Amino acid sequence: AIDLAGRHFLKELDFTAEEFRGLIDLAAELKAAKKSGTEVQRLRGKNIALIFEKTSTRTRCAFEVAAADQGASTTYLDPSGSQMGHKESVKDTARVLGRMFDGIEYRGDSQAAVEELAAYGGVPVFNGLTDDWHPTQMLADVLTMTEHSDKPLERIAFAYLGDARFNMGNSYLVTGALLGMDVRIVAPKSYWPAEEIVAQARKLAEASGATVTLTEDVAEGVRGADFVATDVWVSMGEPKEVWAERITALAPYAVTMDVLNATGNADVKFLHCLPAYHDLGTKVAREIHAAHGLTELEVTDEVFESAHSIVFDEAENRMHTIKAVLVATLAAV
Ligand code: CP
Ligand code: NVA
Repeated sequence: AIDLAGRHFLKELDFTAEEFRGLIDLAAELKAAKKSGTEVQRLRGKNIALIFEKTSTRTRCAFEVAAADQGASTTYLDPSGSQMGHKESVKDTARVLGRMFDGIEYRGDSQAAVEELAAYGGVPVFNGLTDDWHPTQMLADVLTMTEHSDKPLERIAFAYLGDARFNMGNSYLVTGALLGMDVRIVAPKSYWPAEEIVAQARKLAEASGATVTLTEDVAEGVRGADFVATDVWVSMGEPKEVWAERITALAPYAVTMDVLNATGNADVKFLHCLPAYHDLGTKVAREIHAAHGLTELEVTDEVFESAHSIVFDEAENRMHTIKAVLVATLAAV
């Protein structure tokens, strides 16, 4: 079994392709054990701090349920509920929490903050989403892709449509490149990941055999894809004023049935990390609609509710994969 004792998970590239695949295998084992009632608790007596400077449904619940299943306890520090960032520095918080906890999860905007926690905490630190990366989400997405494909990872093609300059776009690009997949970023050029991230992905691809494509052309980008993914057009922490420009720029990249049909693959599956705007069912979506008169959202309700959509398998897999991270890094081995 994979042993990552004491290691941090701050970004995808903290792990080799072999280690990343090892975590996927462990997650699949843990999932099967839970479903068959044979899970063995390997984290009894461990304590894990969950720092959330931004809101969360999946990531928080995944950490809490994963820890409880494994016999560990968690302490949730809500977006405004600790001294960190107000009265106390990240560095001091890290040294305090490191004396009490065996591991620390952090979600916030700043990648530098999660790296500082790791530098001073003295215990494994896990990135639960920053503006730059969403590494635990990538484990869930790769597990979900393996479950919904007969192909080995190196033959799976996936296309990400939407704002690719942020956590999800960056993470998909480097994860696909690391694992030797056929990864396509489909967006207006000004929405592609930063050049240094693209360069990093191209370098990884040389070693892994991955195919890395960045294109503005939807039909070209999705052709032959096994999976089509998207994310919200405006991320947490961004001002609502940017909605208008995002809708204008990204409307042609909304995931519609036409886009799925353009893959030429009748079995194509749809992924979304969630939360998603796919209808006007949420208050935020209604406000955006009222303000801009838009009908475009990143995915149509038709796609979201279709048999192509595997977003709730993906959401469930957040828990099994985060459990794998906790077990691999914190279990006494
Ligand atoms: N996908 C994801 O990270 O969801 P939450 O924001 O609900 O944690
Ligand atoms: N890009 C989104 C992902 C949410 C899980 C955000 O950062 O808000």
